[in-house]
Amino acid sequence: MAKFLVTGGAGFIGGNFLHIMVNKYPNDQYVCIDALTYAGNMETLAPIMKKPNFKFVHENICNREAVFKLFEEEKFDYVINFAAESHVDRSIENPEIFLRTNILGTQVLMDACREYGIKRYHQVSTDEVYGDLPLDRPDLFFHEDTPIHTSSPYSASKASADLLVLAYHRTFKLPVTISRCSNNYGPYHFPEKLIPLMIQKALRNEPLPVYGKGENVRDWLYVGDHCTAIDLVVRHGRDGEVYNIGGHNERTNLEVVKTILKALGKPETLITYVKDRPGHDLRYAMDPTKIETELGWKPEHNFDTGIQATIKWNLENQEWLKHVESGEYMNWLERQYK
Ligand code: NAD
Ligand code: DAU
Repeated sequence: MAKFLVTGGAGFIGGNFLHIMVNKYPNDQYVCIDALTYAGNMETLAPIMKKPNFKFVHENICNREAVFKLFEEEKFDYVINFAAESHVDRSIENPEIFLRTNILGTQVLMDACREYGIKRYHQVSTDEVYGDLPLDRPDLFFHEDTPIHTSSPYSASKASADLLVLAYHRTFKLPVTISRCSNNYGPYHFPEKLIPLMIQKALRNEPLPVYGKGENVRDWLYVGDHCTAIDLVVRHGRDGEVYNIGGHNERTNLEVVKTILKALGKPETLITYVKDRPGHDLRYAMDPTKIETELGWKPEHNFDTGIQATIKWNLENQEWLKHVESGEYMNWLERQYK
């Protein structure tokens, strides 16, 4: 039996991770801490709230005193840090909270790990730390030793955290791993991000805002496949190592939007070209050879099956989406603590 701390579990990927792992490993204990920012949603955790091997703690990873107290009480074996500010556009509008949560929050967690001891600290990172690739060189991919070269305040904060994690490994011998994944999509995805936003807008026959010419390329991975990769790295990865995660599913934004419109039977005339994102990364493309060969990871979904599953989930979970769009999901805090 092992005890896991999962931070940011009320968000998109952390929530999916907990749904899978709490059911897959009934003998392990999962404690989730989440600050419940605008991106944290207790309705995402509802299906596992009553599981005997799951516990939720409403806390901010930057709160050193509270985090240390929790580590002292719970004696974690593994720490998996999903908690972050994650939206590039928001980081362009206001970088500060990104630096605080993504860098200083990571430091607090690792300091607690040093103080109380753990088997493994795992940092959930992103392909964005590598910057971008040119559109006219489809032969190029990000490898684990590709130099860090960031574009947005978001990616700079994630890269800073990665460097800090590797520094704690080298200097303090903290047992760490890092995984860097490409763009995720799937259930419980907050509708500020491309895929769920476009699904919702298409369903309402509203204009679909595509940045620039829509030619930027992202490498899409179904969220469940990211979660199984993280689980493998945490349990079997080598200390101090970085693992790239991706499934070779590159699509232009325009291709993604057209796929969604087609699946929903909506016209392409809904596509509206809007002002480009400042510093917009052109292309991401991961080489996942290391995790495939070293840990035997294989994704279950390709983009064609994953996007259909995602559209189906969104159609069947309009209640969850409507609560997010109306802000009703935020009332949980009020209801819980009044
Ligand atoms: P998200 O924005 O959906 O969720 C983030 C969660 O972290 C929310 O529940 C939020 O309340 C919580 N949180 C934020 N600040 C916190 C704080 N100070 N203390 C405690 N909790 C806090 O993000 P996501 O898309 O699920 O991403 C999770 C992680 O995966 C992030 O580290 C992100 O950088 C990384 N990542 C995301 C993608 C992607 O495509 N979404 C791809 C690769 C890596
Ligand atoms: O690559 C991994 C990263 O993927 C994660 O680290 C980030 O946390 C996650 O948010 C995501 O970042 P992106 O910026 O790639 O995702 P987003 O969904 O915001 O945008 C995807 C692409 O779609 C990007 O090229 C910008 C474009 N876009 C986005 C929105 C929201 C549009 O054209 N219109 C939009 O309205």
